[in-house]
Amino acid sequence: MQTTVDRAGLSRLISAAGGIADGITAVIDDLGAQAVAAAVVGELLHRADVPAGPDVSVHLGLRHGDATIRYGLQVGSAGIAHHPVGGEREPAGVPDVSLTQDLTEVVRSLFGPRGAQSSASRVVHWGHLENPAAFDRPLPAYDVVRRMVDALDRPYDVGLAELCVRYGSDKWGHHTYPRRYEQHFGPLRDQPLTILEIGVGGFGDQRRGGASLEVWRRYFPRALVYGLDIVDKSHLGGQRVAVLQGDQSSPVDLARVVEVMGRPDIVIDDGSHVSAHLLASFAYLFPVLRDGGLYVMEDLQTSYWPTFGGRAGTYDDPATSLGFLKTLIDGLHHEEIVGRAPAATDPDIGGVHFYHNLAFIEKERNLDGGAPSWIPRGVRQRTSVPD
Ligand SMILES: C[S@@+](CC[C@H](N)C(=O)[O-])C[C@H]1O[C@@H](n2cnc3c(N)ncnc32)[C@H](O)[C@@H]1O
Repeated sequence: MQTTVDRAGLSRLISAAGGIADGITAVIDDLGAQAVAAAVVGELLHRADVPAGPDVSVHLGLRHGDATIRYGLQVGSAGIAHHPVGGEREPAGVPDVSLTQDLTEVVRSLFGPRGAQSSASRVVHWGHLENPAAFDRPLPAYDVVRRMVDALDRPYDVGLAELCVRYGSDKWGHHTYPRRYEQHFGPLRDQPLTILEIGVGGFGDQRRGGASLEVWRRYFPRALVYGLDIVDKSHLGGQRVAVLQGDQSSPVDLARVVEVMGRPDIVIDDGSHVSAHLLASFAYLFPVLRDGGLYVMEDLQTSYWPTFGGRAGTYDDPATSLGFLKTLIDGLHHEEIVGRAPAATDPDIGGVHFYHNLAFIEKERNLDGGAPSWIPRGVRQRTSVPD
């Protein structure tokens, strides 16, 4: 019996969660209900963010067909722990609360788009109802269940700046990138996406990093997130997050990344910030980016700094990151420019957005023919004397 759902399985589950209940149930049956339940519990607890606190015991039941897959959750001073219940592992005593819901409905609530959430099959039983003393003040169990229910029902979405602070990404702080990311990523938030971020964080310290990968995992509830770093940080991966080791300037390493993740919808380059590296990654990854995708480059001020392979005193050198990005503006107008050597990316540049230290490049067909051919493009000959 399969006990875990791999990334391909998760991808199927996420796609199915956007459709009808029967389709979700069929995928659950195919992947194995126990394995899906394990994935669901991992996702639910990640999103619920239950802090360490007073002891609370929760029984979670996920109904599927005639069976109920049960988990015991225990909150305490060390945080929250969970384990499957059944057979040898029968729970002792009455839990503070039990929450039961259909597995299909839970999958749709967690992995479906906003608006797909429902709680029609949910039953919550509080264990203290027969004890009048328990009504004196709010019980710790109330907050634990409130967090779990909010994670399922998605009554609100946490903003990107708050997620950056929560997980410790420097995208918010001396940079104020979230405002721009919200602008471009907000409309994609509910899509089943593949996202690659170059630069996991923590530099040479193998144990540190992963902050922004956690941010993307929370921000995009239906995405599979990949991180690439020159240092091995693979242990920072988790459900819906995989961390690969490689050099962003090496086409061989990038080919391996694409082999593992498939074509991405979003690439974020927050790696070495060395101009030649940014350009090498773009040259390999932009062609494999899906149509409608976004390619982001951070910390572009390094384009002016020779220590990062940038240029001081001259601003248009196409070997620097910003000098190169400026050439994409010409690429946008490739059908209207006379006598310019074409660039391979021209037909796919849909838009280039510059912000302080940050740029977004949209990939879409740029082949609509341009301005009509009868409009003179050369230096106009004066045929009459103006008034
Ligand atoms: C600024 S940190 C990334 C921070 C992270 N994205 C965040 O927002 O939390 C840059 C990371 O890029 C990695 N890096 C440096 N050179 C690289 C290269 N050539 N290829 C891939 N990663 C590289 C470093 O090891 C470091 O962890």
